[in-house]
Amino acid sequence: MKKVRKAVFPVAGLGTRFLPATKTVPKEMLTVVDRPVIQYVVDEAREAGIEHFIFVTGRNKGNIEDYFDLQFELNETLAQRGKTAQIELLQSMQPAAGTTSFTRQQEPLGLGHAVWCARDLVGDEPFALLLPDMIMRSNISCMRGMVELYEETGSNVIAVAECDPAETHKYGIVGAGEKAGAGFEITGMVEKPKPADAPSNLYINGRYILQPEIFGLLATQARGAGNEIQLTDAMLRLGDTQRLFGYHYRGETYDCGSPEGFVEANLAFALGRADLRPQIETIVRRLAG
Ligand code: G1P
Repeated sequence: MKKVRKAVFPVAGLGTRFLPATKTVPKEMLTVVDRPVIQYVVDEAREAGIEHFIFVTGRNKGNIEDYFDLQFELNETLAQRGKTAQIELLQSMQPAAGTTSFTRQQEPLGLGHAVWCARDLVGDEPFALLLPDMIMRSNISCMRGMVELYEETGSNVIAVAECDPAETHKYGIVGAGEKAGAGFEITGMVEKPKPADAPSNLYINGRYILQPEIFGLLATQARGAGNEIQLTDAMLRLGDTQRLFGYHYRGETYDCGSPEGFVEANLAFALGRADLRPQIETIVRRLAG
């Protein structure tokens, strides 16, 4: 069984739910507490054993690449001023040379198309896919749990969580079959169904481990919901020849693509920090009162 070494991050989205901020700042670079959203997602991947980070970007997203580069002048200045804590913080997050790749989606044709743009960078091996709108908090990270299920099954793993049954039209929704190890067999999948047409309330929460055969299917995938090339539709076809396992994630998920989810993420992560919790609790109490 091939190890999952590479992760794809589709970061080309325009962030229209977050204007005017996203006119010039990529939504993935908006900060939750003191670091950009994309840092949390890359950390989750690294913690799960990922060695190479592939970003599918677009125009106006250049500072994502700069962010993951070594900032030589900054490091020099910090060193001259003896700021060792900051130097160590930056070092702990710095991807090693040669472990990041960037390509551009060029046209906003949907998630399926964005993933397809990474085909040559991924090559012929299974890969992780992490949608950076979603950031997560749990004891065992979502991707780590998925890698364990992949090591058990050797197939495709799609993470799901429970959503409000009235909100199925916002997500990809799966049908759940038999339990299989730590996961379950996926029996169906539909992108953004109306509640009446949804097979369950288990929504795809933005974390996937996929076999490279998905790329051939994406190349011929017809447009689906929203007139976009949908990854969900191609995964459903992948299910004709390979097994698809659901991983039921039980931790917290914050949708940073919407202002309310973003504010919630800021509060949750700030309250989760021992150094900030007391002040934040006081501030929230004062503002709410
Ligand atoms: C995408 C996927 C959808 C998934 C969602 C999670 O939709 O197509 O299946 O549930 O991400 O965020 P998008 O949010 O890009 O419309």
